[in-house]
Amino acid sequence: MAEKVIFDTDPGQDDAVAILAALGSPAEIEVLGIVTVAGNIPIHHTTRNALRLVELAGRTEVPVIQGCDRPLVRRLVTAEHVHGQTGLDGSDLPEPSIAARPGHGVDFIVETVRAHEAGTISLLALGPLTNVALALQKAPDIAGRLKRIVLMGGAYFEVGNITPAAEFNIYVDPEAAAMVVASGVPLVMLPLDVTHAMRSTKPRIAAFAGLGNRAGEAVAAMLSFSEVYDLRKYGWDGAPLHDPCVTAYVLAPHLFEGRHINVEIETASALTRGMTVADYWGVTDRAPNAFYVRSGDADAFFALLTERIATLP
Ligand code: BDR
Ligand code: CA
Repeated sequence: MAEKVIFDTDPGQDDAVAILAALGSPAEIEVLGIVTVAGNIPIHHTTRNALRLVELAGRTEVPVIQGCDRPLVRRLVTAEHVHGQTGLDGSDLPEPSIAARPGHGVDFIVETVRAHEAGTISLLALGPLTNVALALQKAPDIAGRLKRIVLMGGAYFEVGNITPAAEFNIYVDPEAAAMVVASGVPLVMLPLDVTHAMRSTKPRIAAFAGLGNRAGEAVAAMLSFSEVYDLRKYGWDGAPLHDPCVTAYVLAPHLFEGRHINVEIETASALTRGMTVADYWGVTDRAPNAFYVRSGDADAFFALLTERIATLP
């Protein structure tokens, strides 16, 4: 049976690929809704982009619900320097002809989790964890009802991408991340330690472009835009493709390796704000609270994504 999921996301080109790959995998993933959050770009762009993606995928029955427009306590930090002004720069997706569902994304999460059998819904979080933390705060009962949270965020061996110490999603809303790791919900983290190995090299982007459908063309165009900043920054043969690791983990966990460990979030220090302090070597007696993924099979990852994007219009 397909896993029922709610995406929480700030698309973002890599969020887009994660969502499209899930929409192209109906046998394994049932997308109940897409909740937007402010992150890569402000909320009006993330909501507009989510709507453009469900239209691209021909899946307009999947509701898009707008969530929080800023972190719990901090000023919003965005990443137009990576994703462009719209967040999906590079693609020429049309304006959406559909609208977001009325209501708040946090309420959608709470109501949807409560409306389904306990242990059946997963949250797939691809941006700052503001909505997820607020939902858990507002309705603590959902912690015991969620199957799991699978999130892209954090870094230990690869340290930071927005500061020397922190990964973007956790940095933007560290208080929210701290609440999520303390929530007791089964957690899978896909940090930079794995995503930095998933590089969209020229042949991998060409494989999307060569699919002959609109979705493949859009994915290739988006990744060709968002890779520019990272290629200059890292000097690698391809830019890391972060958020699709979440979808791929749900589809094919055997492609990934990690450990069940304790992860805590630094919220007090100015210098290391948002650092994910991962006890990978078990040097404390703090209880494990996350399955922390460290590595994955990049060739199989890209083959899987390409196969699923191929099923879309
Ligand atoms: C994360 O930050 C965003 O820029 C990406 O969409 C991804 O979720 C990577 O650090
Ligand atoms: Ca994201």
